[in-house]
Amino acid sequence: MKLDVILSPRLLPEQFEGALCAVIDVLRATTTIITALASGVSKICPCVDAEDAKRRAKSIEDGLYLLGGEEKGQRISGFHLGNSPLEYLDSNRIVNRVVLFSTTNGTPAVKRAYSGSGLPVYLVALINLSAASSILVKSILDKSFREILLVCAGRRGQPSIEDLFCAGLAVQRVRHGLLKVGISPDLSDCATIASRFAVANAESPSEVLSASEHGRYLRRIGFAADLEFASQIDKYQVVPVFDGAFIVTSEE
Ligand code: MLT
Repeated sequence: MKLDVILSPRLLPEQFEGALCAVIDVLRATTTIITALASGVSKICPCVDAEDAKRRAKSIEDGLYLLGGEEKGQRISGFHLGNSPLEYLDSNRIVNRVVLFSTTNGTPAVKRAYSGSGLPVYLVALINLSAASSILVKSILDKSFREILLVCAGRRGQPSIEDLFCAGLAVQRVRHGLLKVGISPDLSDCATIASRFAVANAESPSEVLSASEHGRYLRRIGFAADLEFASQIDKYQVVPVFDGAFIVTSEE
């Protein structure tokens, strides 16, 4: 069983049909989606862009949906919500709603992982790290996957250090879970790099996020609080899964 970390969707192999995929976008798409589901959103539709989100909204009754997402980190003009996880903590505003969600790197990464693997895709961030890792181990055992890809959304096609960090922590947890049942996964070099970086920085998640390029950018545009929120390891048990149409809370 191969355990691999993909530093950007651009680096996905040409063929990965049948691989178990998990997408990581710590700053901020997967963090925000986990928070939204934990706060009571019924489901999230990942959209290609803002126009796609607005088009899909036309087929849903007013009052049942919210438009959410960002461009250059800021709320899209005319949208109800941006991509700050803090905006999704107000249950009264979002409970039982469908969120039509568009972000620069995160939502395209989820759709790409689904179209390439042909299988449901899990969403991971620091805030659901252990719960997500357990579900990945369970899926591997239940369905005998031969390959697991931890796909980092990265930034504009480049790797990002906060996703690498989260992927490395997930590698450790998944590896540990598999070793307990006698399976020794074959780590790719990238999975080993991620794992070693994560071990070296395990005690300082908020420093990792603050030092990252995207973290520095978000701080500059007024989202410093999002970095603190996103660095809380295991805040939630919710593990989102994309089934090709919607992102919902996994029942596993
Ligand atoms: C993305 O999907 O590119 C990010 O979540 C950007 C952001 O921080 O809003």
